[in-house]
Amino acid sequence: MRLKPFLLDAWLDSYEHGIEFDLAASTGPIWTANQLLDLEGEQARERYLNHKVVYGRPAGADSLREAIAGMQGVSVDCVQVVTGASEALTVLMWLAAETGANVILPLPGFATFSALPESLGVETRFYRLRRENNFHIDLEEIKGLADSRTKLILVNSPHHPTGATMSDSEIEALHEFASQRGIQFVIDEVYHPIYHGRESQSAVRLPHATVINDLSKAFPLAGTRTGWMIERDARRREQYWTARAYFSVCNNTAGEILAEVAIRNHAVVLKKTQDTASRNLQQLDRFMAAHRDVLGWIRPQGGMTGFPWLVSGEDTRSFCQAATERGILFAPGDCFDVPSHFRFGFAAAGDNFGRALDRLEEFVKSWSAKMVTA
Ligand SMILES: Cc1ncc(COP(=O)(O)O)c(C=O)c1O
Repeated sequence: MRLKPFLLDAWLDSYEHGIEFDLAASTGPIWTANQLLDLEGEQARERYLNHKVVYGRPAGADSLREAIAGMQGVSVDCVQVVTGASEALTVLMWLAAETGANVILPLPGFATFSALPESLGVETRFYRLRRENNFHIDLEEIKGLADSRTKLILVNSPHHPTGATMSDSEIEALHEFASQRGIQFVIDEVYHPIYHGRESQSAVRLPHATVINDLSKAFPLAGTRTGWMIERDARRREQYWTARAYFSVCNNTAGEILAEVAIRNHAVVLKKTQDTASRNLQQLDRFMAAHRDVLGWIRPQGGMTGFPWLVSGEDTRSFCQAATERGILFAPGDCFDVPSHFRFGFAAAGDNFGRALDRLEEFVKSWSAKMVTA
């Protein structure tokens, strides 16, 4: 068994700590533990400081599961807490790993989607989000990949890194297709509900969907390492619980308390992300229009990342490398198996985004001048 190199995290780990303008990050504006606890005042702070640092429950703390169930409008039984959406993916791919099985995944996509099944010997089949098709997810392409050995179909909406979204009717159609064939329909909603156009509902309303969510993206609180799965199928839930108990036992107790506070105050936390993402995207609209001779893009419909490209058509790694020397971090597209694009995160820089774009403007001008003289 071999895990392929995690190119994205290796790149981020080399540059993210200490870079002046992080336009690679896929998250939103930063919160401190103090600011989160302020949402509920002294009582929350006391609870946080005095909680017992012991093992928690494998399904997640009762009060955290209740908060998640309340926010998602499902019964508490359906909620399995995990250590980030990463653990949800580990559990699902582990359980899908039967001899001869295949899984259907997006390309580009978050690297973990494919690295896990590949390492477990599960066949990976990819549907493409193509620039020529505005990164639209083509249901017919997904359906054409499925056969009697398909264990799961995974979609991610809003999609990372392109920012493409699926409509309610597309999600319903795919859910229907998968459930009729006994294929698990998994939807990764870690960027829901951040939208920049048509909004979609959460798939938690669909009876056979397995929904993955977390506190790392729309809730930009990755340090809590909290994610969850919504699952109505009791047999599957039992498997998740068992996998969870083996893989990590339970969440970090401090993270669970912060997660609970954030989820109870989801309107405030999500509004801050949406406002920041919307404001920064408007600035980015103007920037991309002004530099369309160098940079091409498809405006993200949701989430906090876009997937632009160099109009010259070249691969972006040296562009991204040169940008780091000017204090700007992007993520090269080869981290997503699409080397001619790069990931541009527009919400994590928060109010610093305008300054980041000023610096980027200088860099883009010098890059294109160099290209002309080369
Ligand atoms: C689409 C998607 N799903 C899941 C994850 C995993 O996030 P975490 O483990 O922090 O919840 C990520 C992280 O980048 C992601 O982009």
